[in-house]
Amino acid sequence: MTLLYQFALFLHIIGGFGLMAAITVETIGLRGLRQATQRTDALVWLGLSRSIVMRLTPSSLGLILVSGLYMVATVWGPRGWILVALGSLLLLGVIGAFGTGRRMARIGLAIGRAQGPLPAELREMLGSPILLMSLRVRLAIVLGVVFLMTLKPSAVASLAVIVLAVALGFLAGQIPARRGRNELRADVG
Ligand code: HEM
Repeated sequence: MTLLYQFALFLHIIGGFGLMAAITVETIGLRGLRQATQRTDALVWLGLSRSIVMRLTPSSLGLILVSGLYMVATVWGPRGWILVALGSLLLLGVIGAFGTGRRMARIGLAIGRAQGPLPAELREMLGSPILLMSLRVRLAIVLGVVFLMTLKPSAVASLAVIVLAVALGFLAGQIPARRGRNELRADVG
């Protein structure tokens, strides 16, 4: 194992940390946005998402891909777990773009137009179960891929792991998020 390979593995793992950090910040940002009642609060959470998640996610995925492809080209060649990991990376991008990206773009525009208290229609958009589902399925896929990376199973077993991860993420997405203080207050009042 050359020093360059070891460095590529180091960068690859840093990319994995980056991806987990981005998912964590996205989760916190979504929770904050759902609790916001005023435009100014919503803008703070939206800014967090835009400044961190939208930069960290693509850069981490890029780092994982470039370093991963280097390790594949120099040592591993095309193995089952690698091909499934590549497909999973694509799936992460698709779910992120269609499940979250497009919705968040619309939400961003609506927050920009809002004045003072957030309108009910916007709060409804923020409460969309798809946003939480997208997050949980992506988190499950990332954990599934880390499982593949460490155990390096056959193609069929790797595919089964990712299908199971997607199913578990989907099931977890059905569990409603803990309700925010504002939602609870609204019920009481
Ligand atoms: C969500 C995406 C990914 C994450 C979080 C991830 C994470 C990791 C981690 C933590 C390891 C270290 C495992 C160990 O040393 O036992 C690893 C190894 C590896 N990854 Fe990934 N990976 C991802 C995607 C990919 C992709 C798409 C490829 C191929 C293009 C790839 C290629 C490799 C290779 C070849 C190794 C083996 C390194 C070795 O054992 O020497 N990874 N990955």
